[in-house]
Amino acid sequence: MRPRRFTATGPLRGRIRVPGDKSISHRSLMLSSLAVGESRVTGLLEGEDVLSTAAAMRAMGADIERTGPGEWRINGVGVGALLQPAQALDMGNSGTSTRLLMGLVASHPITACFTGDASLSKRPMGRVIAPLSEMGATFTAYPGGRLPLMVQGAAPAVPIAYRLPVASAQVKSAVLLAGLNTPGTTTVIEPVPTRDHSERMLRGFGAELTVEIDGEGARVIRLRGEADLKPQVIDVPGDPSSAAFFAVAALLVPGSDLVIENVGLNPTRAALFDVLRQMGGSIEELDARDVGGEPVADLRVRHSPLTGIAVDPAVVPSMVDEFPVLFVAAALATGRTVTTGLEELRVKESDRISAMRAALELAGATVRETEDGLIIDGTGGDPLRGGANHPVVTHLDHRIAMAMAVAGLASKAGVEVDDTRPIATSFPTFEALLAGAMQAA
Ligand code: S3P
Repeated sequence: MRPRRFTATGPLRGRIRVPGDKSISHRSLMLSSLAVGESRVTGLLEGEDVLSTAAAMRAMGADIERTGPGEWRINGVGVGALLQPAQALDMGNSGTSTRLLMGLVASHPITACFTGDASLSKRPMGRVIAPLSEMGATFTAYPGGRLPLMVQGAAPAVPIAYRLPVASAQVKSAVLLAGLNTPGTTTVIEPVPTRDHSERMLRGFGAELTVEIDGEGARVIRLRGEADLKPQVIDVPGDPSSAAFFAVAALLVPGSDLVIENVGLNPTRAALFDVLRQMGGSIEELDARDVGGEPVADLRVRHSPLTGIAVDPAVVPSMVDEFPVLFVAAALATGRTVTTGLEELRVKESDRISAMRAALELAGATVRETEDGLIIDGTGGDPLRGGANHPVVTHLDHRIAMAMAVAGLASKAGVEVDDTRPIATSFPTFEALLAGAMQAA
């Protein structure tokens, strides 16, 4: 455990750059490992989750080398040529690595065992086991479809048409990645759109992939199997999910005026910034541009009074990882913020609804938990009390730790987080960047 108390020493000012997007970083390593020839990636997130993916792809035959900070070189083996890993694949805390790699293994003639930490071992894998079993893979999992689990890939796998029962980019991606080495056309029907990095990147790597909207408004994604992927040069944009913590911190701490450079603003990811603007937050997009096929801008965020709102549940998939820090913003707003449709938050790295309810209450906020969200009555801009006699419990969840660090900056007596180590899974430079932004004051 590495406990730490967070308090504001001053406003957040100057310019910062957050690390590369986690979703795109995972996919860069996986797809490059399946392309024949050398791919180069810059701006790769070097967090523990992505390093778990790199280790797993190496264990399955890819040649992966770090050539500089955020700079990686990958020599892939080709679709269909993944090797059987000699040992269990340790996924650490990373649900994305686990679910996407289960998809890759499912259509290769290999067997792999997946293990993970205490948080990952509680998370449901049945949602990927179901479609991948239909494709012919065989699974032996712990009760409840949890890790550790063993996958025996099917060769050849059977193409399926799969309608997603939950709005999950991980499930969508697992099926598409399995489809890469499956003869025929694999189809995923997505009634509610989720992050579309897999689709964009598969196309970028040369796969034949189409997206159509059907009569009911669902996205129908078709991928032609036995694909031949071509190596790419990829520049990974900054992670909006990491920028989120600094955006909310700058909105809440008086006197702040911060520019967060190079933030990915893919519409399937960026709803938090719209919601914060609806609440009255001053967030400007500067120098909008395209980086690696994704929309990107610098965000200028200034301290602003916020007003509570009812968050439209339709935006949930486009900000699914940002609710912990939105709850912190709501805790300092004027009036009530109501969130609904957040059932999926209960199966993230922790149950984020109940973890944030407990954490915010401890910091002095007025919060009520419902089955599918939180109802928060804000302080009207006054800092939270903070200073509880025991630390916030983060349950091995990086986003609970960072959200409550932000709450600490907006509190009188500071907020103590029980363990900051999980922050390294997605944002190893978080504490250093925060210290730097506050020093620039
Ligand atoms: C991710 C999808 C989301 C998100 C996770 C990353 C991805 O999970 O929470 O952090 O890269 O596909 P779900 O697909 O389970 O919603």
